[in-house]
Amino acid sequence: MDCLEERFQHRLALERIVSGIARNFVMLENPTDSINHALEEIGKYSRASRAYIFEFQEDGIFMNNTYEWCREGVASEMERLQNQKINSFPWWMAQIKEGDILNIKDVSKLGDEAQAEREILELQSVKSALIMPLMQRGILNGFVGFDNVDATGNWHDEDMTVLSIAAEFFSSVFNRLSAEKEIHNAKKELEVSLESLKHLQAQLIQQEQLVAIGQLAAGVAHEINNPLGFVMSNQKTLQNYANILKGYAEYCLERNEKPALSDSDRKELTYIVEDLDDVFSDINEGLVRVKKIIKSMRIFSRIDRMTDYEPYDVKEGIENTLVIIKSRLSGLGALKLNIDTPIPMIQAYGGKINQVLLNLIVNALDAIKEAHPNSPGEGCLEISTRTKRDKNERKIVEIQIVDNGIGMTDEVKNKLFMPFYTTKKIGKGTGLGMSIVYDIVKNSHAGEIIVESTEGVGTSITVQLPVNS
Ligand SMILES: Nc1ncnc2c1ncn2[C@@H]1O[C@H](COP(=O)(O)OP(=O)(O)OP(=O)(O)O)[C@@H](O)[C@H]1O
Ligand SMILES: [Mg+2]
Repeated sequence: MDCLEERFQHRLALERIVSGIARNFVMLENPTDSINHALEEIGKYSRASRAYIFEFQEDGIFMNNTYEWCREGVASEMERLQNQKINSFPWWMAQIKEGDILNIKDVSKLGDEAQAEREILELQSVKSALIMPLMQRGILNGFVGFDNVDATGNWHDEDMTVLSIAAEFFSSVFNRLSAEKEIHNAKKELEVSLESLKHLQAQLIQQEQLVAIGQLAAGVAHEINNPLGFVMSNQKTLQNYANILKGYAEYCLERNEKPALSDSDRKELTYIVEDLDDVFSDINEGLVRVKKIIKSMRIFSRIDRMTDYEPYDVKEGIENTLVIIKSRLSGLGALKLNIDTPIPMIQAYGGKINQVLLNLIVNALDAIKEAHPNSPGEGCLEISTRTKRDKNERKIVEIQIVDNGIGMTDEVKNKLFMPFYTTKKIGKGTGLGMSIVYDIVKNSHAGEIIVESTEGVGTSITVQLPVNS
């Protein structure tokens, strides 16, 4: 009876310990503390000399002693027990791999099949041991061990039910820790991807600006080349005329008399005098054109206009943009400009609005080129502006760009403003143009964009900008 009573008390104490451990594990505020505490509780209760946990490494070949509790006077083994080969305990692993607890009541009685384990345990003077498997998704991933150096057979068979609950708690804690680690790693990976996406986006925006600058430079080079050639050829004529006139002047100065002019000399001089005015006016015209191009370029590309919110002249903006991409307009069948003057100045980031116009016009030209690849003369681009009031009674300026290009399918229409969406060849379009337009019009200027497009017919894009946003 005494014995039964004792066993009952023993079992009750064990249940109390295990439920305490369970409570601790559920909170899991400090996992390391909870695990160490559990090892100590069960270790003390079973009068173990050492309680420890081994976790398998990811390679499935080695394992590490990651936690331990040692009774007073027992030396720590943890440091020594790192990178141990899992298969140096073949019998042991086979016993626990299905999730069963291994109760070695007497080490000296281990059979030949457990020779390796017996030798290792005896080397450490272990008399009995209890091993609980740590299972992860049904696969053995480590174990919790309780070694006893003083006594044999500390555990009764009926303790096993309670201990198997403890083993499950241990497993679930390690599962939870590894799930948390996975979440943490996934989060880290996501953060890294997000960072690199942001970086890529910044790079692409920069690239988009570079494309705009490239377009600008190409247009400007093309435009300046023409009048400059003009100025230079006239300058040659002028040099020639000057040489002839210089000859006459030197003759007069040396002899202090007018030369007797032959008929052909008289003819030449008369021609030069008549032509001089034309030469000068041609040179002047060429220089005025160069000056205008340079002015457009300066206005178009002024960086301060990107960040300065100031009065912006829509008409001037459209004209400057057209000057910049004039080389691409030359093949068009028709360019119609319907600027409804007077057009009020709007409050805007001028540089950004120029970017909007450039993106929309270049897109229209691309669509036209795609629709009429062999007959550019059929291409028609129409730019109109008008002033009106929107549905909120705000005074707005409307800029409408109409092309007879390829038009848009429903899919293109739906994805038009998505960053990186492009139907153009790799290297041709970044797909950022319309997303930048959207951001500038909607977010920076509280404006609206209206897209009307029919596949195979053409597209009309209307940008509405409040006069005072
Ligand atoms: N006027 C238009 N007519 C037909 N399709 C258009 C027009 N404007 C834009 N699109 C379509 O919308 C897509 C996205 O335009 P978006 O300007 O954002 O990028 P992109 O022109 O392809 O490249 P980029 O970054 O060089 O501007 C284009 O690839 C094209 O398919
Ligand atoms: Mg574009």
